[in-house]
Amino acid sequence: SVEDRVEDLMSRMTLEEKIYQMCQYVGLEHMKQAEAKISPEELEKNDALGFYPGVRSDSVGRLAEAGKIGSFLHVVTAEEANYLQSLAQKSRLKIPLLIGIDAIHGNGLVSGSTIYPSPISQAATFADDLILEGSRQTALEMRANGMHWSFTPNIDVLRDPRWGRTGETFGEDPFLVGNMGVATIKGLQTDDFTGNDKVIACAKHLIAGSQSVNGLNASPTDVSKRTLFEVFLPPYRRAVQEADLYSIMAAHNEVAGMPGHMDKFMMTELMRERWGFDGFYVSDWNDISRIALWHNVAKDFKQSIEFSVNAGMDMNMHGILFDTLLTELVNEGRVEEQRVDEACRKILEAKFKLGLFENPFVEVEKAKDFNFNKAHQENALEQSRRSIVLQKNKNNTLPLSENGNGKTIFITGPNANNQTTLGDWVSPQPEENIVTMLEGITELGETNGYKINYFDSGDRSKEITQENIEKAKQQARSADMIVLVLGENSFRHDWKRKTTGENIDRATLKLSGNQMKLADKMFELNKPVIVVYVSGSPIAEPWLEQRAAAVVNTWESGAFAGQATAEILFGKVNPSGKLPLTIPRSVGQLQMIYNHKPTAFIHKYNTEKKKPLHPFGFGLSYSKFEFSEPRASKIQFNDKEDAITISVDVTNTSDVDGEEVVQLYIRDNISSYTRPVKELKGYKRVAIKAEETKTVDIAVTAESLAMYDKDFNFVVEPGDFTIMTGNSSADSSLKTTTISVAELITLDKAK
Ligand code: IFM
Repeated sequence: SVEDRVEDLMSRMTLEEKIYQMCQYVGLEHMKQAEAKISPEELEKNDALGFYPGVRSDSVGRLAEAGKIGSFLHVVTAEEANYLQSLAQKSRLKIPLLIGIDAIHGNGLVSGSTIYPSPISQAATFADDLILEGSRQTALEMRANGMHWSFTPNIDVLRDPRWGRTGETFGEDPFLVGNMGVATIKGLQTDDFTGNDKVIACAKHLIAGSQSVNGLNASPTDVSKRTLFEVFLPPYRRAVQEADLYSIMAAHNEVAGMPGHMDKFMMTELMRERWGFDGFYVSDWNDISRIALWHNVAKDFKQSIEFSVNAGMDMNMHGILFDTLLTELVNEGRVEEQRVDEACRKILEAKFKLGLFENPFVEVEKAKDFNFNKAHQENALEQSRRSIVLQKNKNNTLPLSENGNGKTIFITGPNANNQTTLGDWVSPQPEENIVTMLEGITELGETNGYKINYFDSGDRSKEITQENIEKAKQQARSADMIVLVLGENSFRHDWKRKTTGENIDRATLKLSGNQMKLADKMFELNKPVIVVYVSGSPIAEPWLEQRAAAVVNTWESGAFAGQATAEILFGKVNPSGKLPLTIPRSVGQLQMIYNHKPTAFIHKYNTEKKKPLHPFGFGLSYSKFEFSEPRASKIQFNDKEDAITISVDVTNTSDVDGEEVVQLYIRDNISSYTRPVKELKGYKRVAIKAEETKTVDIAVTAESLAMYDKDFNFVVEPGDFTIMTGNSSADSSLKTTTISVAELITLDKAK
């Protein structure tokens, strides 16, 4: 058995060799590129900051040969993966390397991969199965390229959209985030990831960095234990208990004074001992050293390692000295050897199950059969089609007629003709694999008899010059309508142009640079303006939305963004994406979430409305759907195993076939601690033909009704619960019924 093989190998390993398994380094090529970009002096300075501590690409190879490295990250070619494995094969025990990569939405750091829409887009599909299938495909592409471990899903519940990593999240709702997280893990790991075509998943970041005090990455978070349990932790519990999640990455940030990388309660007492996590923890980039360097709660790196490993940390992401210092700590009795054994055991178990001891190499040529293959392309395109949210459609501006009759569409804007549609964690992709907005709209537009007239406005502030804006206006004069492709940029290859993404946080949710100036000039022409947003983060521009004829929010829609958007503009596809987060009117409205507490919006602002620009769950369609009142299969909920089915009839009263996402929200009417005004607890995406009625059933389980009591037991309190169903979280879209619980039900007791 795998267990026997692990124990046999460990019985032949020295303490140092076990510790080497806990050491992860950045890939050689990645290091070389980083080194080439900066001067030796700058490198030294970075060392002092803890970014590239004391290690250079030329020494990493030697460490691998000596068996001093257990894992690599950011290895982006099959050739390099094979080369590194060949070095590890020269070591005494020939233990293969575990190669990790940020395959966040496809194996995007590898050129030629399938780029699926960003997680925020994926959440907008409300189509868990599609996401599971796409993740399974990503696992295949990864393994074909020699990678075994994806640092995804990001199951941070997004509570502050200023955070640049918003596009990497599944949005603001714990239930939706949990479902998407579980689907992603199941797709990547497939059961217990035994086999040479599976990978391990890594949920991140433990915990709550998505609600830092100022919206900045790695800043402190200061939320209550109750908020942690009710908002941020549910997706983790479900990832562990429903999907057998095998690895977790700790967060850069502290929560209430405790840095994530030394939080023993979180890593060991809660996740492992109470909820049954049975995999391993990896640090984030250099974050163990930052316990001393940034947080100032340890005096040096050695003490940081002591605190971190004792709290439950199993692997150090990048850098030397971890092995030497941890060995010293064990020899001095400050860390028990048993802790090292636990870490090493879990890492080796992964390597055995993944089949790396049988064959750590890949056939480079074979990778081509998997990267961007037909089935993967189809899934990526389907995800795009279902994720695009129609936010406004004045007088049915859309869909554009199938018969263009020679009309001219003028297209401009900074995201119209480039790879910003791919989002973060993606390297530049071969042009022939990507359909830009311009390409997609031109292709379908011309087929439908339209003329396309494009002007390259340049990229945001620097290049959308006054001169360019005037030129755009001139060129647009002869057009019949305008498609304005605006938004933000999280595409990784060009850090100077990024306006959102990892470490690029936003102080405003408005469009960056001169985009509004460009839009203003377009509106002056009094022609229909269709605004297409490309952005992982929400755009709060109420004035723009008021003036636009239609607003199509495509998020970051991946390789086929242009095709899917064009299909929606021309009515080949009926839009059905729903917002996975509330879009506020302004940054001043934050924290604007739909599942707020009852008193959150009792008072109003002096200078702002208290309603958002668009509510969570909202998204228009070309069809018109009508919902019946919800019907409960019974009124009384009895015990832990009980379930009540809520049924709703949904009628498509239009003459266009469509898809709708039926949503079910719950409110605990009277509770011992305040509860949100409503919480999403179920949804179903259904295809409904013109004039057809479908009955949709959604189950309410004990978990849907549960909350944490004063001792943090997970319980259902007796009393009434309001059930709301409809097609968005806005009260005006919801119809209600009531169910009740007679006696207290305990689901999970605090230890
Ligand atoms: O996985 C990421 C993490 O989300 C942020 N810091 C770097 C890691 C590895 O790239």
